[in-house]
This record gives sequence, structure tokens and C-alpha cells, in this order.
Amino acid sequence: MAIVIRPVEIRDVPTLWEVEHRVLLAGDGQVRLASEGSEDRVADRVQAFVDGRWSGDRGAMFVAEVGGVPVGEAQVHKLDPTYCNHVASLGIHLDPSAQGRGLGRALMERLLAWSRDHGVRRLELCVRADNHRAIRLYRGLGFAEELRRVGFLSLPHCTVDIAMVLHLVPTPTHKAVAVGLREQELLFFEHPHAGWQLPKGGVEPGERPEEAVLRELAEETGVDRVERSTPLGWWTVANGTSLQTWHGFLLDLPRDLPDRWTHVATGSPEEEGLALVCRFTPFDEQARAIFPPLFHEALVRALEARGRWPSAI
Ligand SMILES: CC(C)(COP(=O)(O)OP(=O)(O)OC[C@H]1O[C@@H](n2cnc3c(N)ncnc32)[C@H](O)[C@@H]1OP(=O)(O)O)[C@@H](O)C(=O)NCCC(=O)NCCS
Repeated sequence: MAIVIRPVEIRDVPTLWEVEHRVLLAGDGQVRLASEGSEDRVADRVQAFVDGRWSGDRGAMFVAEVGGVPVGEAQVHKLDPTYCNHVASLGIHLDPSAQGRGLGRALMERLLAWSRDHGVRRLELCVRADNHRAIRLYRGLGFAEELRRVGFLSLPHCTVDIAMVLHLVPTPTHKAVAVGLREQELLFFEHPHAGWQLPKGGVEPGERPEEAVLRELAEETGVDRVERSTPLGWWTVANGTSLQTWHGFLLDLPRDLPDRWTHVATGSPEEEGLALVCRFTPFDEQARAIFPPLFHEALVRALEARGRWPSAI
């Protein structure tokens, strides 16, 4: 059946209300507030996107239609025009019968395209920490965790939510980061100025991220062989004033590496000649807390890839 993604219209209100209601009954997502009231509430929301406060340059709402019937919607709207005109927040939900068929990604890609075309540089969302399917969809599109909050959403059965962000950078700088494991232990090095670090660095022109991560590993730790490299996807990072796209890799390292060694860094003007002490620390949830925030997304993705990060925490 033909799938169409199109702007919302007022005539969609009755069907969208039914969709919300079914999502609510399934216990997914966070539609409770919208569904507690009557159909009018959905109508008000749709109206705001059709010709109201979130239309034109301020926001957009799209409907996914299968065989001519709306089965879900997604919206994006900009925040305060005075200070946050470049910031937008989004929401999405699909009828339970339409989930798991790629429609979520299609709707999200439409929102991302709208956002890029309308000057959005920071796209935000909030998701229940136990909504694994949605989190996976968002991560696949480059969103990264910004913080976990307790008691922020007024939903039953939801104590923790995750605020996620995607920086829409016109010409991003690309970085590669290694979560290197010797069995259950995580490799890091002590940087004399920057503290505990994972091997990471810029992707050079003509280089692929999977090549860059191995070069950085060798330059910063001297380790020049890995048993396996698993991609952890990409995400965006605001590092000081610069915006970067990071590519993460989970690297299985040889088991015969020593517990500790000193490596003299090569390859970068800032680090060339520095003596870096390389060590291991247990690879568990605590690992996230002991590294600078710059490395958190890589660690969360790696912990999840190894089944060690319960998203609901
Ligand atoms: C969340 C939602 C928008 C996702 O859209 P969708 O079309 O159903 O998404 P998909 O089924 O394609 O799944 C997205 C990803 O999650 C993965 N996934 C599916 N079920 C999963 C689960 N139980 N646990 C972890 N990952 C899961 C899929 O494999 C896919 O990943 P991939 O692209 O790497 O293969 C949709 O399911 C929905 O509307 N749910 C109810 C409302 C809701 O939760 N809204 C979001 C509120 S923040």
C-alpha cells in the first residue's frame, strides 16, 4: 500500500485522535496529556500547526498515510523567538498497527529536512528511558543523550526520561572515538592536562571514520591491532564553541595487552611527544561517571551494545 508523508490538515483531527487513543491504550510514548481531554484538544494542536502559532516558519506537523488513511503524525516547533529561534522541539507517534515498518524514520527524516530548511540548529526531544524502540530510532538519526531526568514527565509508570539533542551543523568537523575493550575492561589514558581520556581525534580528509579510529588508537596508545571493530553510529557534540559529528566504535582489543604502559603520543601537534599513561578500568555503568561528558554518548552506546546499560536508569 502506498505510503505518503504530507502536511497535516484539519480534516485529519478525528483519525489522529483515534490514533492517539490507541497509542495511549498500548502504553507507549507520552501522549497521556493530549489524550486526557477531548477531541478538541487534538483539534487545537492541529490548528496551531495549520494556521496558528506553530505554522509557517515556526513549526510543522506531518501525517503518515497508508492507503489514504492517517496512521501517525510528527511535529516540530521552534522555541522562544527572542533567544531560541534556532532551537526546536519535536514529538512523534504512530498507531500500534503501523509501528515497526520504517514509518517512524520516514516521518523523522521529514522533520529533519524541515528543520534544516528553516534555520533550526538545535533539535531537542524528550523520551521515556524505557522506550527502547524510540531511543534506537533517535540514535540512528544522530541524536545524543544530553541528560537523564527524574520526575520531569507527569506520566504513570515513568520516573526517568532522557533529553536528547541533535545539532544540525552545516559543515561539521568529524571525530572518531574508540571504546577499546580488553575483555571486560575499558582502555583509557591519563592526559596530563585533560584527565582521563578515550582515544579520539579528527577524521582526516579522504579518511573513513573506521580508519581514523584505528589511527587514533595507535597514535594515542600505541595499540596497533584490534580483534574486531563494531560501529556505534554517529551523533553530534557541542565541544566548547565548536560543533562536531562523532563516530563511535567498540574495539575488541588483544587479550595479551599489559595492565599499564606509557606511550609517547604521535600524530597531533597538541599531543606530539606527550607521555600518556595507558590503563584499564572496569567496563560498567560507573565508567560513564568517571569520564568527561564528551565521552558519555560513546560509553552509553557501547554499554548498550554489550547489554550492560539498562536504559531505564
Ligand atoms: C517510536 C516510534 C515513532 C518508532 O517508529 P517505528 O516506525 O515504529 O520504528 P521502527 O520499528 O522502525 O524501529 C526503530 C528502531 O528501533 C528498533 N526497535 C524496534 N523495537 C525495539 C525494541 N523493543 N527495543 C529496541 N529497539 C527496537 C528497530 O530495529 C529500529 O532500529 P534499526 O533502524 O536500527 O533497525 C513508534 O514506534 C511509535 O510511535 N511508538 C509509540 C509512541 C512513541 O513511543 N513515540 C515516541 C515518544 S518520544
